[in-house]
Amino acid sequence: MITRSLGSHGPRVSGLGLGCMGMSDLYGPADEAESIATIHAALDRGITLLDTGDYYGMGHNELLLRDALRGRKRESVLLSVKFGALRDPEGGWLGVDARPAAVKNFLAYTLRRLGTDYVDIYRPGRFNPVVPIEETVGAIAEMIQAGHVRYVGLSEVGADTLKKAHAVHPISDLQIEYSLISRGLEAEILPTVRSLGVGLTAYGVLSRGLLSGHWSAERTVQKGDFRNFLPRFRGENLERNLTLVEALRSMANEKGASVAQIAIAWVLSRGDDIVALVGARRRDRLSEALGALDVALTPEDLVRLEKAVPLDAAAGDRYDPGQMRMLDSERGPRSTI
Ligand SMILES: NC(=O)c1ccc[n+]([C@@H]2O[C@H](COP(=O)([O-])OP(=O)(O)OC[C@H]3O[C@@H](n4cnc5c(N)ncnc54)[C@H](OP(=O)(O)O)[C@@H]3O)[C@@H](O)[C@H]2O)c1
Repeated sequence: MITRSLGSHGPRVSGLGLGCMGMSDLYGPADEAESIATIHAALDRGITLLDTGDYYGMGHNELLLRDALRGRKRESVLLSVKFGALRDPEGGWLGVDARPAAVKNFLAYTLRRLGTDYVDIYRPGRFNPVVPIEETVGAIAEMIQAGHVRYVGLSEVGADTLKKAHAVHPISDLQIEYSLISRGLEAEILPTVRSLGVGLTAYGVLSRGLLSGHWSAERTVQKGDFRNFLPRFRGENLERNLTLVEALRSMANEKGASVAQIAIAWVLSRGDDIVALVGARRRDRLSEALGALDVALTPEDLVRLEKAVPLDAAAGDRYDPGQMRMLDSERGPRSTI
């Protein structure tokens, strides 16, 4: 396993992290025993970063992690936890709460569910526009002082918010969607991240499975799978996006790799300050994702890849309109490279 530093203020972690969201939520039913086996396999193969959110399955994902980590040394793993999203009993999204009191309240429940006395990286899942980021980060900094948290992270914020937050307390990493078809951050956010010495944990590196090579127009999406609502998975957009995947597939075949491996390797090639989260929820998918570490992309490969999947080639936004409005990261200029 390769390791990378989360910026100059964060910890050193494995270059691939395991995102556990799909084991509890959003991608339809998951098998709990297989999820735990996947977490074990990830740790055994050298993955040290596990990403979760208290709202993934309304606490279920944290309880799953607690079960999976039983018997393991706490310090052998870094737990990155998002908080702030408000859910209803049907799983609907009610908004975000990142007030200082809410930060401490969410954290108290998280610590109990995870069965630990500290979280390694704690971050608001979304920016709460009615709460100054300085107050949210200030509350996490207090929790660091008290020993309940080690590092402050952020998620899907734009450059201005990142700068304001970093002025209050050093930010270890910004977690943000980044893939061959989601490159909006390259214009302003990525340069800002780098100028501040902040790390970047990329999620959605397979664009939720769309770029994995395992998706097809015929695949039936189960009830409860939020890909039903993602514009890139719908109708003509899906057809157009799958033609990009076929272009990737022919390159992958030439390199003796899979489409998913090429897509993950591309993200890892974007800089040593980038850690790729993979959302595998089965051991076979994890094993495929780990194979990306053996894919060496030459400068010529990178040029060909960008021709196969040109910037802004994706049809459809990365979230539905309601969720797009919640993204502070989408308020700045879009990449024009
Ligand atoms: N900060 C944020 O706002 C935010 C948002 C979303 C996610 N995240 C974090 O990032 C993590 C990863 O995000 P993601 O799951 O949306 O993105 P992803 O890694 O792009 O997509 C994961 C999905 O791709 C499919 N897949 C197919 N082949 C795969 C392979 N070889 N390896 C892994 N997955 C494969 C799987 O779906 P099937 O199992 O259906 O085949 C899997 O559920 C999440 O678990 C979560 O921790 C953060």
